[in-house]
Amino acid sequence: SVIPKTAPQAEIGVIGGSGFYSFLDDVTEITVDTPYGAPSDSLFLGEVAGRRVAFLPRHGRKHHLPPHRINYRANLWALRSVGVRQVLGPCAVGGLRPEFGPGTLLVPDQIVDRTKARAQTYFDGEPLPDGGPRPNVVHLTFADPYCPQGRLAALKAARGRDWEPVDGGTLVVIEGPRFSTRAESRWHAAQGWSVVGMTGHPEAVLARELELCYTSLTLVTDLDAGTEAGDGVSHEEVMRVFASNVDRLRDVLFDAVAALPDPAERDCVCARAHEGRDLGIELP
Ligand code: ADE
Repeated sequence: SVIPKTAPQAEIGVIGGSGFYSFLDDVTEITVDTPYGAPSDSLFLGEVAGRRVAFLPRHGRKHHLPPHRINYRANLWALRSVGVRQVLGPCAVGGLRPEFGPGTLLVPDQIVDRTKARAQTYFDGEPLPDGGPRPNVVHLTFADPYCPQGRLAALKAARGRDWEPVDGGTLVVIEGPRFSTRAESRWHAAQGWSVVGMTGHPEAVLARELELCYTSLTLVTDLDAGTEAGDGVSHEEVMRVFASNVDRLRDVLFDAVAALPDPAERDCVCARAHEGRDLGIELP
């Protein structure tokens, strides 16, 4: 890659969701380029509990990027290139069960990909878009898509803030940008899936391909169309409910950052995703 390696500037990344455009108060803004193009926005570097954190607003700080236009590869690559090894990914979701109403915080342990047209691998048999080397073909083990240590940190942080989280469940990710029809939504619920969102994939798999720990914190902003008797979900409702929960979500994320293990002590599957395989490229 033509992107020079720099000294690590952060160890933990937070990718903010809809309605979540600033995380830290005292920040240094840096722009980072990647072989896959530009990430959603600048990285905002700061400190939480003595840990160096890089915040990236997933949709851009002005929310100009819909879920299917986000350059997920650039986002994760950029975070890793500044030293990040553990990522927390809050996002807005719809609840697929009546008991998962607005304000529910669910930390999923499984994911179902129902997206249609997203670049979802760094190992697609093509040279890096910037003319760098050609990655080897890699088939990642992905049975458990989320970092077990990150999940524990998130659950502990939520409980410490008296926000009893749902521990585990399946996040189904749709292509969007439209919400589901009632039939789609009923089908998702009938499969036993828990919540529905638009950005959890390919964020989680790309993180794993870069041997990053990734934890999803899903905040339910609405009951999805098949669950609710009403008119279905609206974007305004999603933004309003997210905004009314963003302060306590920030508190939970701060505590989760503090509770994450030291990166040198990562002994989860995430850190060993490639088990010393020759990737054909150097991870940033
Ligand atoms: N994000 C927030 N609510 C959602 C829903 N009901 N479906 C998909 N993505 C969402």
